[in-house]
Amino acid sequence: MKFSRREGVASFLALAATACAPGTLGGAGAGSGQGETLKDLAARSGRRFGSELAFGRPGEDRGSFANPLYAEILERECEVLVPENELKWAWTRPSASTFDFRQFDAMGDYATAKGFALRGHTLFWAPEKWFPQWLVAHDFGAQPIKAAETMLTEHVRTVCRRYGPRIGSYDVVNEAVEPETGALRDTVMTRAMGGGEPMLDLMFHTARSEAPHAQLVYNDYMSWERGTEDETHIAGVLKLLEGFRKRGTPVDALGIQSHIRLLKDAPVAEIVRESEGPWRRFLDAVVAMGYDLVITEFDVNDREAPDDIAIRDRMVADYARAYLDIMLGYEQLGDVLAWGMVDRYSWLTGFDPRADKSIKRGTPYDAQFRAKPLREAIAAAFATASSRHG
Ligand code: XIL
Repeated sequence: MKFSRREGVASFLALAATACAPGTLGGAGAGSGQGETLKDLAARSGRRFGSELAFGRPGEDRGSFANPLYAEILERECEVLVPENELKWAWTRPSASTFDFRQFDAMGDYATAKGFALRGHTLFWAPEKWFPQWLVAHDFGAQPIKAAETMLTEHVRTVCRRYGPRIGSYDVVNEAVEPETGALRDTVMTRAMGGGEPMLDLMFHTARSEAPHAQLVYNDYMSWERGTEDETHIAGVLKLLEGFRKRGTPVDALGIQSHIRLLKDAPVAEIVRESEGPWRRFLDAVVAMGYDLVITEFDVNDREAPDDIAIRDRMVADYARAYLDIMLGYEQLGDVLAWGMVDRYSWLTGFDPRADKSIKRGTPYDAQFRAKPLREAIAAAFATASSRHG
């Protein structure tokens, strides 16, 4: 059954309330942690589970705190929340001299009132295509380094001071490595700063001094699936992490976005077999440098998976389980955050559509707010993971 936005909110609220009735939480299965919430299962392995959420107003059909059906899932399953967009420059910086925190403030107030921890995504999203328009066209003047430093420092200081200890972990810089070349992206900001490295170093040093309590994360989307571009991306990220250590840049963890992809119609076991070895070598190298790991944006892109819902959901769940089992084998992995809890609101449907344009099924709950096999796969991965604190 599909909903269109034209259908009344009331009708989906009624249906979804039935779907969320007690006893619909999950399926059976050995070690699945049936009946336990994802946050409780994660806590047993010494970790925290969470999700992104969006801003919304009451009555809006969005994955927001103001949508009672979405909020109910967040409050039951999650310990940590992260804003999907609302802390990005395109939302918080209407101009070079102004800030607008109204949307994130409302989300932060909800999170604090309900006792959630918060992650800050992100102090800087590096690809120019995500900059606010004014920044792309900004004139940094006769002393560009000084002007850019002032702008970045002021941004980090303003955000960190506004939210203080309420934000315990920041994606200080997001996606600075260009996947095709492995080099740092070249943008109006890195050019003004005289290079990518000075820009990143300034961001992390400023974040450390303004939010000394916070975990500082470099976040990126290098993916575990094999493919030429990913090899180059991974090599570039490793080089960046090595550089941070050499220069004494205060970076605590690598954020692995984990938008994992079922992009070819191949058996899950085959994709896993091809991916696992090189991916483990990458993770081993990262933790050997003393970095912690965070899964910051987990979801499963089912673009090429079969149309049949039952088959597709099974593949998505099995693929997720294999990936999470590998990741949870690392005691350096702490937080695990999903990029959304309900398919209905997942960015994946619009970002990278299936040929039939149908809704993607890459989050734990379906469009009618019913738990799916993917939810059980995440539960089972936590339930069987060894505790990171022994
Ligand atoms: C996405 C949001 O989910 C969309 O709503 C928005 O249109 C684009 O950004 N990597 C990231 C996230 O770091 O910030 C992105 O979020 C998804 C990919």
